[in-house]
Amino acid sequence: MLGNFSYVNATKLYFGEDSLKFLNDELPKYGETVQLIYGGGSIKKNGIYDAVVEILHANRKKIVEDGGVMPNPTVDKLREGVKIARENKVDLLLAVGGGSCCDYAKAVSVSVHCDEDPWEKYYIRFEEPTCQIVPVGCVLTMAGTGSEMNGGAVITNHEAKLKIGHIFGEEVMPKFSILNPKFTFSLPKRQMVAGIYDIFNHICEQYFSGEDDNTSDYLSEGLMKSVVHSSRIALQNPEDYEARSNIMWAATWALNTLIAKGKSTDWMVHMLGQAVGAYTDATHGMTLAAVSLPYYRYILPYGLQKFKRFAMEVWGVRPEGKTDLQVAEEGLAAMEGWMQELGLTMNIRELGATEDMIEGIADATVLVDRGYKALNRDEVVSILKACL
Ligand code: NZQ
Ligand code: ZN
Repeated sequence: MLGNFSYVNATKLYFGEDSLKFLNDELPKYGETVQLIYGGGSIKKNGIYDAVVEILHANRKKIVEDGGVMPNPTVDKLREGVKIARENKVDLLLAVGGGSCCDYAKAVSVSVHCDEDPWEKYYIRFEEPTCQIVPVGCVLTMAGTGSEMNGGAVITNHEAKLKIGHIFGEEVMPKFSILNPKFTFSLPKRQMVAGIYDIFNHICEQYFSGEDDNTSDYLSEGLMKSVVHSSRIALQNPEDYEARSNIMWAATWALNTLIAKGKSTDWMVHMLGQAVGAYTDATHGMTLAAVSLPYYRYILPYGLQKFKRFAMEVWGVRPEGKTDLQVAEEGLAAMEGWMQELGLTMNIRELGATEDMIEGIADATVLVDRGYKALNRDEVVSILKACL
């Protein structure tokens, strides 16, 4: 394991089909007023809203409603949430939804007691919070982002055409998260597969870096195999509890800081995907699917041995009689076949990007240089053109 690191994860998880009842154990730890954060209404259709409200009432909580969190939450919505929290002096931010609700709750949590503009402070200057942080809890309804057990909070600013993630520290991670795989059954297929690819790509982003022998890579390979296996079952039968529960658990472990330990990590697919998202507001997992293959095929020669290992360990490619390049390329072809099986959107044009947006998307792409190839702007432009 390279480098020196510390490891702690501050989030307590409750997992399984009976997990919501543990909200009763958590609520007494916080004050009376709960800001109930949710999205566009799915939780009112599938009964999760009623179940959560019943528990809040049973625990004599005062509920302050904060619905309408959109996928890819905006800075305008963040300001609205901060206003609600300040006016009602809330004691707990309870997010009931997917990554967008959890991310939004964390962004509100560090902004309620902050005197400065949160967008400028956290997303432009990348400063850390120095104010009091309002505690966050999550009831997760979509598997994908890992937001339920990490400090990430991605916010979109449509005016500036920027989508930026701030990875906050352990003090901002949810205090608790409730993961009931059955809550994900009502997800439309498009969201389910977008979440599945998000999970897979989180693992890739950490795996495709470094050349050392690292336990994190073995953990990653196991997680990737589990995601591919369960995704095929869930595709046939979305109500297969075993598959959906494995997908939910893998999502959490794919991005809760564990498999990044001892790794430089890459994150360039996410930087490209977020820039596409800033221009199109497309579903996060789809933006990643649409940029992945042109990016990985471009960097493959720079990380050849790792791409060969990926092909053999994750996709079962046999190396006999083949060059390293052939084996590595077969691995990416197998990944592409699986992505097609899932029905992911594999180009940015279908997400709403056009040729004349390419320069702007390239400007919005944050360049990170921890993977196998540090990209320059010209390379970003040519990769984006290949994604059209
Ligand atoms: O808003 P509602 O009506 O609830 O509908 C949502 C939304 O339309 C729906 N949905 C969620 N659970 C459902 C459901 N529909 C039916 N049944 C259910 N059980 O699904 C849609 C998408 O939800 P959203 O929360 O937006 O999806 P996701 O979990 O993929 O979150 C995406 C956001 O997370 C950020 C993304 O950039 C994006 O803004 N990310 C956060 C990360 C982190 N915290 O570490 C890392 C990720 O890479 C990602 O960037
Ligand atoms: Zn992601």
